[in-house]
Amino acid sequence: MTNAYPITDHIYDVLIVGAGGAGLRATLGMAAQGLKTASITKVFPTRSHTVAAQGGVSAALDNMGDGDNWRFHMYDTVKGSDWLGDQDAIEYMCRNAIPAVIELEHMGVPFSRTKDGKIYQRPFGGHTINYGESMAKRACAAADKTGHAILHTLYQQSLKHKAEFFIEYFVIDLIMDEEGICRGLIAWNLEDGTLHRFAAHIVVLATGGYGRAYFSCTSAHTCTGDGNGMILRAGLPLQDMEFVQFHPTGIYGAGCLISEGARGEGGYLTNSEGERFMERYAPTAKDLASRDVVSRAVTIEINEGRGVGPLKDHIYLHMEHLDPAIIHERLPGITELARIFAGVDATKEPIPVLPTVHYNMGGVPTNHFGEVVNPTDQNPEQVTPGLMAIGEGACVSVHGANRLGTNSLLDLIVFGRAAAIRAKEIVSKNGGVKPLRPHDGEDIIAKFDRIRNASGSLKTSEIRLNLQRTMQTHCAVFRTKEHLEEGIKKIKEIAESFQQLQLADRSMIWNSDLVEALELENLIQQSLVTIESAFNRTESRGAHAREDYPERDDINWMKHTVARLDGDQVSFTYRPVHLYTLSPEVDVLPPKKRVY
Ligand code: FUM
Repeated sequence: MTNAYPITDHIYDVLIVGAGGAGLRATLGMAAQGLKTASITKVFPTRSHTVAAQGGVSAALDNMGDGDNWRFHMYDTVKGSDWLGDQDAIEYMCRNAIPAVIELEHMGVPFSRTKDGKIYQRPFGGHTINYGESMAKRACAAADKTGHAILHTLYQQSLKHKAEFFIEYFVIDLIMDEEGICRGLIAWNLEDGTLHRFAAHIVVLATGGYGRAYFSCTSAHTCTGDGNGMILRAGLPLQDMEFVQFHPTGIYGAGCLISEGARGEGGYLTNSEGERFMERYAPTAKDLASRDVVSRAVTIEINEGRGVGPLKDHIYLHMEHLDPAIIHERLPGITELARIFAGVDATKEPIPVLPTVHYNMGGVPTNHFGEVVNPTDQNPEQVTPGLMAIGEGACVSVHGANRLGTNSLLDLIVFGRAAAIRAKEIVSKNGGVKPLRPHDGEDIIAKFDRIRNASGSLKTSEIRLNLQRTMQTHCAVFRTKEHLEEGIKKIKEIAESFQQLQLADRSMIWNSDLVEALELENLIQQSLVTIESAFNRTESRGAHAREDYPERDDINWMKHTVARLDGDQVSFTYRPVHLYTLSPEVDVLPPKKRVY
């Protein structure tokens, strides 16, 4: 390379970017099949945000004797998605949930147990038996630390299968060739400051969501959707980015998650009048309605003056009526969070909570094998060779317009495994890895150098706060044309202000100023696409609630948004929703009104 930065070159069969649940499941699957596998991650694997997942992983195991089966799970997921989910992929996920969770058990995940030694399962929002008749017990739980248990097990399994790890390496961008094929990537080793060029048959993006585009979120500070930023800069699209999930019970003020598992174990919400208001909004499922429904209900209660606290700006989650022994056994983590972040003893007093950004349904479009799809008019399923995406950063789309609780951990393990199987097939058919040319990646390093030497007048933290506040205000639970329009104008100004960035630290070793600046670029680009997509979709569906278009409009909008970014300009095409199943063993679920 002619660049001023010395480069170390590497060649692997597969590179997995991100070591959360999806990344690790793919990593261990690929390594176990004999592929030369490297996991590249900006945080130590067991610090990935999957560690914070609480309530469970869904699978219709029927361990609690409620007669659950995968068809009910599929129905709930399609309904939860407000009929924007692709039914072939949903069938794949719900059927494979059962062997995937059993496989986790065999790998050593320490699930909680029933009296007869089976995996313990609890109720969760929108999980039902017999197509909505009664609530199901489907969430397989390791107390309220299910993500923690799964992540540690997957990391151990990856090490067992001799996957190689590049830990605390920040991936800057993908190396794409002139034919649009992904050939590898450029990464920066934070520990010693060196730059690295990786070539591979396949790059798998498992970089998670971008909750940190918002001011209040349950996501870790590392959740900046870096892979999504790379996709946009590679000229590829993101799908359904308008669908941002608010979890109804983030701790007021701190944003940390209080698991829906709390309501699954019998907790409930009240307003300032002490009323269990969910009975009005969802007469059957009540507090266990789907989370978009509960978040809207909470927001309406607050907006109509029935919030609690001096500012009447939040509501209460009650668990104090539950047996403390059950709380300590099944919900120890949230009890601790409530004590630390809300200063309350959940066994004695209610927890102050508020809807908080929790999950991105949108992301990199893929098929159910994990391959990245770049839809064209001629072929809405066209695959981008050399590139896969899995986990929250991907949009398969199994969650459609709204994800059900515990389908996230499931998505990670089912599609992490699917990607590993597909990768083996692809690599076996390919010849050797195509070597990178001397100039490949030079443009990426030039950009890195520009940001490293940015000498404007605005700190990363100033621009980021401005972005987060704008997204929180203008692209929230309820949306209107005027509010979104104003938000778009502001986000474009924020994007422009990135040119005025100033970095205080120009070193190469653990330069967190530079890491945060690179993350901020990713957040800004995703925010532009998110808010423009929200403006563009003139209907209400799932988590996207337009006050000016309150109804779902299947005639015009039962389609996926496909958004591309050029500078600060977002353009749209669409991709049909898959209203077909994979097998004849289940019928297509036709759209109907979504009530709980
Ligand atoms: O409430 C929770 O435990 C969250 C689960 C999920 O988002 O899947």
